[in-house]
Amino acid sequence: MITTTNTNSVSMHSCDVLIIGGGSAGLRAAIEAHDNGANVLLISKNREGDPHTVLARGGINAALGTMDPEDNWMIHATDTLREGEFLADYQRVELLCKSAPDAVNELVNWGARFHREKDGRLTQRFFGAHTYRRTVFYEDWTGQEIVRVLIEQVKQRKIKVMDDIYITKLLKSEIANDEKEAKVDKITGALGIDIKKKEIITFQCKSLILAAGGYTRVYEISSSRMFENHGEGMTLAYEAGANLVDMEMVQFHPTGMVWPEKARGTLATEAIRGEGGILLNSKNERFMKKYCPEKMELGPRDVVARAAYNEILEGRGTEHGGVWLDVTHLPKEKIMDRLTSMYKQFKDLNGIDISKDKMEVGPTAHYSMGGVVVDINCRTKIRGLFAVGEVISQIHGANRLGGNSLLDTQVFGKIAGSEAAILAKGVTEEGGEREGGQNKNDQKEIPDNAIFVVKEPLSFLKEIQEVMKENAGIIRDEKKLQNGLKRILEIREKFYSKDNILKEFEINDERVVLTFEVKSSLIVCEAIIKSAIMRQESRGAHYRSDYPDLDDEKWKVNIYCKKKERQEEREDGKGEQETIILFKEPVKEIKGPLLDLIKSHKKAEHHREFE
Ligand code: FUM
Repeated sequence: MITTTNTNSVSMHSCDVLIIGGGSAGLRAAIEAHDNGANVLLISKNREGDPHTVLARGGINAALGTMDPEDNWMIHATDTLREGEFLADYQRVELLCKSAPDAVNELVNWGARFHREKDGRLTQRFFGAHTYRRTVFYEDWTGQEIVRVLIEQVKQRKIKVMDDIYITKLLKSEIANDEKEAKVDKITGALGIDIKKKEIITFQCKSLILAAGGYTRVYEISSSRMFENHGEGMTLAYEAGANLVDMEMVQFHPTGMVWPEKARGTLATEAIRGEGGILLNSKNERFMKKYCPEKMELGPRDVVARAAYNEILEGRGTEHGGVWLDVTHLPKEKIMDRLTSMYKQFKDLNGIDISKDKMEVGPTAHYSMGGVVVDINCRTKIRGLFAVGEVISQIHGANRLGGNSLLDTQVFGKIAGSEAAILAKGVTEEGGEREGGQNKNDQKEIPDNAIFVVKEPLSFLKEIQEVMKENAGIIRDEKKLQNGLKRILEIREKFYSKDNILKEFEINDERVVLTFEVKSSLIVCEAIIKSAIMRQESRGAHYRSDYPDLDDEKWKVNIYCKKKERQEEREDGKGEQETIILFKEPVKEIKGPLLDLIKSHKKAEHHREFE
């Protein structure tokens, strides 16, 4: 039991549906849960209007056919499955692509100011590996526009939102299972800290939706900000008993800024290439001719990222370790109209005018395809626990098509919201409490491991990011991965050691959040590396130089991670650490109308060996 020296009280809140995460997935889920009659509370660790989604740049996909009338949902689904190297659940991909036009039109009806042609049609632009122009956008900061309209809808409905709340543990209890004798786990709420009020905070709910983002900040160079995407969502679900899947699949976006140092990793949107930007090495060669002659700069993300990486490795990189991205041949009006924020970003951060000078860019960790296992209705195996957005998996397979993540937050956010509300309503009808509210009590004791602080969490974060960069990056092999695993487990030992954990701490200690960022990073890194070791082939974003080929016979499988509790209680009183157990299952076979289309599509030449 940990007792803090905190003198503040513990505040307690209750609702039907609790949503953790204020990005586009959480916001869309909140709207739907409310519209299905639930009393909703949305909590976010960031300030209002500043979730990670605001960094989503280039656009949202839907086969609307406004520019290319030949497009339809089946071609969109085929592109999605192919980009993901057929690791995704095809039924979820079908649902995603069929629902896309409605999702985009809903945003338009809610006031999203997407770009239009002179005749009023929504403009759609190319993104990598799309057969047709399909990406709808607002200049080049589409995520922020979507967040704006969703927040407006949330406000109109008077949905309660609490910012600056950092959750450290999900709470659950055992209930009798109707069908079998055995008991099952049921989510009852969550516990964490109110960063602003500096107090412990607890929530009671009937169902809970995790919309807490991904895990790309375990890498030093990432398009996420320092304080986001350490895998907290995956960790909360995993610790509550949910499984993780496809954790080895980390997408590296080909074009993050490489200079100045403080901007390293910041996204240079794919829309730059979608609008005609080209990639050059230091010899001024358009190197994508070599790697993906058919689609060039608009090849699949993994292919373009590895190509840029290889050019840099082989000595054809720029002064700061990147390649060139060039739009100087485009009319300045087009740049200002469609790449507005990129123009400003490079001017402000790098001091260059992109209509006159080339941008220096390189790969950056951008998206986690792996995540929490849910079914098509966003349900985890824990009763009452739902998950949506980047925290889940099996929609994008081994590699995500650009523009599909904003879309998935809307399509599956809506599903998660309605499913969670329906479940909560069922619980209410069984005779639970319904009204939301707040209580104060003076409880000072919190469950084991729910909140703790270590001495220097920042140095752990840096060490983890270094290990991941060196050993589990774009190009992997057995030796590097084994070394990475060894080092992550050593860091874990040090992190949980008796000397490292403070016996007493104040709840306003800035190190609380950092400590939990390290804790989550350790779990997801172990999962990434163990899964990457197991997958002895190259598929999508996972590239093994010792197994450079895709091997459908052995590896058309999803790799799952489940928790194994260590028997012995640790001496330091920190409670047991968990060891991740892996198992694999074949990917669901595609059936129905998509199958013929996929067979008839010619497979693009993507594979080239990298050392
Ligand atoms: O480059 C981009 O704008 C990224 C978009 C995405 O990941 O969907």
